[in-house]
Amino acid sequence: MRVLVCGGAGYIGSNMTAMLAGAGHEPIVYDNLSSGHRKAVKDAEFVRGDLADFDLLVKVLKEKKIDAVMHFAAFIEVGESVKEPLKFYHNNFCNTRNLLAAMEKCGVGRFVFSSSAAVYGVPEKTPITEEQVKNPINPYGEGKWIVERMCHFQSLTGRLNYAALRYFNACGAGQNCTLGEDHRSESHLIPLVIAAAMGKRKDVKLFGADYPTADGTCVRDYIHIEDLCSAHLLALGKLQSQSELVCNLGNGKGYSVRQIIETVKKVSGKDFKVTEAARRQGDPPILTADATRAINELGWKVKFPQLEKIVETAWNWHNKYPDGYGD
Ligand code: UFG
Repeated sequence: MRVLVCGGAGYIGSNMTAMLAGAGHEPIVYDNLSSGHRKAVKDAEFVRGDLADFDLLVKVLKEKKIDAVMHFAAFIEVGESVKEPLKFYHNNFCNTRNLLAAMEKCGVGRFVFSSSAAVYGVPEKTPITEEQVKNPINPYGEGKWIVERMCHFQSLTGRLNYAALRYFNACGAGQNCTLGEDHRSESHLIPLVIAAAMGKRKDVKLFGADYPTADGTCVRDYIHIEDLCSAHLLALGKLQSQSELVCNLGNGKGYSVRQIIETVKKVSGKDFKVTEAARRQGDPPILTADATRAINELGWKVKFPQLEKIVETAWNWHNKYPDGYGD
């Protein structure tokens, strides 16, 4: 299939692009490089473009004879979404609507959407199943949820087959540790802890040690980037015949912030300072996935169930590329 990968120069999108090419598809990356890296796009044609540019989207969809679209081009920082809600609604919602309208105009009817565990807000119970109440507590999660609803209603018209994949915590490096996580302003735990282990940061800040969890720190479900991407490939196949597919993507096992820190210390053999700090606004204490549906309906098999292996891939990438993509 000829797949337009929106946001294909970002962390998840670049890994997806490489996996699509490896599986015999033809990925075409569409990215405005506002946060992605040109060097992260290796085996694909690249178009520099913005999702707000309807005419360019239509041109690319038509000229490149696109069969399906995967959409990773969203803002990702929850904290920023609370400070700048309109910026988030514009990109994560309005621009996605623009993309769907361009697809409709061109008769492109297959769409894989990056959704998030953030649609659930603070869950009533964990592990979380897809049916649980959606009650996002920030504009980031709300934007993901609105897009899911928009896709649902569009699918009812018969003009769209879509998959909404709700990621838990994406991490690690893919393609033999050549494609890793390089955010210009890093907020994610594993890269920040690795930076401390590499001596690039003086300490790791532990955001809250008084949560109602076993060791007082937040628990998350860490899923390797290649496992995340393999679920997208499977979902893409399903969209030939299925109009709607909504799945959680996680390992189903939770690790606390302290456990992540200990794992990075073990994998790296380095010690570093950990400073307890105030809670970060909007962090639910525990988020873990029930991914039974992805396993049963997609036939998804996770290759990296062990945290240590996941962290090893991230550690290797950061050591191989200490300046990231260097841009
Ligand atoms: N944390 C720290 N110190 C840090 C960074 C993070 O203690 O320096 C803690 C956070 O407070 C949180 C945990 O580590 O409890 C994980 O934080 P991340 O920022 O790595 O990940 P989140 O669970 O907040 O975010 C994930 C995705 C986001 C997505 C969000 C939606 O990585 O992109 O889920 O819920 F937006």
